[in-house]
Amino acid sequence: MGPATTEIDTLFAAATAAQARAYAPYSRFRVGAAILADDGAVYPGCNVENAAYPVGACAEAGAISAMVAGGARAIRAILVVGPGEELVTPCGACRQRIREFAAPETPVVIAGTDGVRARFSLAELLPASFGPANLPT
Ligand code: THU
Repeated sequence: MGPATTEIDTLFAAATAAQARAYAPYSRFRVGAAILADDGAVYPGCNVENAAYPVGACAEAGAISAMVAGGARAIRAILVVGPGEELVTPCGACRQRIREFAAPETPVVIAGTDGVRARFSLAELLPASFGPANLPT
């Protein structure tokens, strides 16, 4: 059981709206993300680049920050939308960022401007991962 079709539609709309606001003057590669969180709210994010290139932030990182600032603590589903023909899957660092707040089964939905193109579980993108439970309490 993953998110319902209407929830995916809502995530796609939120991610596309955020993508349009992306700050990507260097790569010109605009990315949007949206999280359906455990509180039922949708948290968007977009990439925010910087003249000091390595300081730029991915869309997924922005959506996670918005979720935490909004008071939620768990990702039920995340959708990423990017340009071009290739699948815009989260980078390695963002897979780990998602892992902090998601379960292995959590859906990671990948969209293009034309709509949803692929759906993965987080475990498919980040197998045998290290997470909060690996640390001693
Ligand atoms: N980017 C994201 O925001 N999310 C992804 O999943 C892939 C890449 C951004 C980082 C950078 O601003 C631009 O896309 C080109 O890599």
